Amino acid sequence: MIEVKNLCKAFGERHILDGMSVKIQEGDLFSVIGPSGTGKSTFIKCLIRLLDPDSGEILVDGEDIASTKDEFRLARIRRKFGYLFQEGALFDSMNVFENVSFGLKYLTDIPKSEYPRIVREKLALVGLKDVEKLKPSELSGGMKKRVALARSIAVEPKYILYDEPTTGLDPVMTGMVRDMITDMRDKLGVTSVVVTHDLKLALNISSRVAMMYGGRFVECSAPEDFKKSANPEVQEFMRISGIK
Ligand SMILES: Nc1ncnc2c1ncn2[C@@H]1O[C@H](COP(=O)(O)OP(=O)(O)O)[C@@H](O)[C@H]1O
Ligand SMILES: [Mg+2]
Repeated sequence: MIEVKNLCKAFGERHILDGMSVKIQEGDLFSVIGPSGTGKSTFIKCLIRLLDPDSGEILVDGEDIASTKDEFRLARIRRKFGYLFQEGALFDSMNVFENVSFGLKYLTDIPKSEYPRIVREKLALVGLKDVEKLKPSELSGGMKKRVALARSIAVEPKYILYDEPTTGLDPVMTGMVRDMITDMRDKLGVTSVVVTHDLKLALNISSRVAMMYGGRFVECSAPEDFKKSANPEVQEFMRISGIK
């Protein structure tokens, strides 16, 4: 479980996260939605300390990652996370095998002789076969997304963070990525946090949807309750998303 308590993060005078609190339960497919620039990426980056919060707690399975300075502990907690960022490109100079095994090499003690099996397994999970020797330049956009996801699940994370996984994609690719996300939950039982401005997608796949506004979550509920929310920001966001 990830429990966030009173999380604050400012850039200069701008308080982007302003006392955020939330609990993300095991097996949740938790979506964070909100207009661009509200701090969704800032939130997700704080979860793995790609950004340092100013104050507050982030308990990952009971261990605080928000303020620890212990690099070993930080590495151990980070190891529980896989992430797929929109800009999270593959390493162009490496082939698919090297890309997918990258985390195994740097984050685990798994012997090299195991890599081919693991890489094959993870590629199969995202629907790819016999692509190990290809370079990213030889892959289609959809295949790149799949390889990037295979790379992030290679180390068997407990949590997967997705930042705008469908932004800029056409409807077919969006559908593919949506299925990938729900597949990972169903096949691996991972807990997922999906940051998106696509409310339709969030309502479609999530067990819970949280709306960020003014540095906090102003609504956090199951999709069917979310749609009934009386919160004015939620209602406005639903209106501009063409849902109401
Ligand atoms: N490293 C940074 N330094 C200064 N301002 C930043 C930084 N990262 C994000 N911001 C600002 O914080 C706000 C929230 O950004 P972000 O978390 O990326 O929003 P979202 O992901 O919801 O679109 C934006 O106004 C952005 O310009
Ligand atoms: Mg963002």
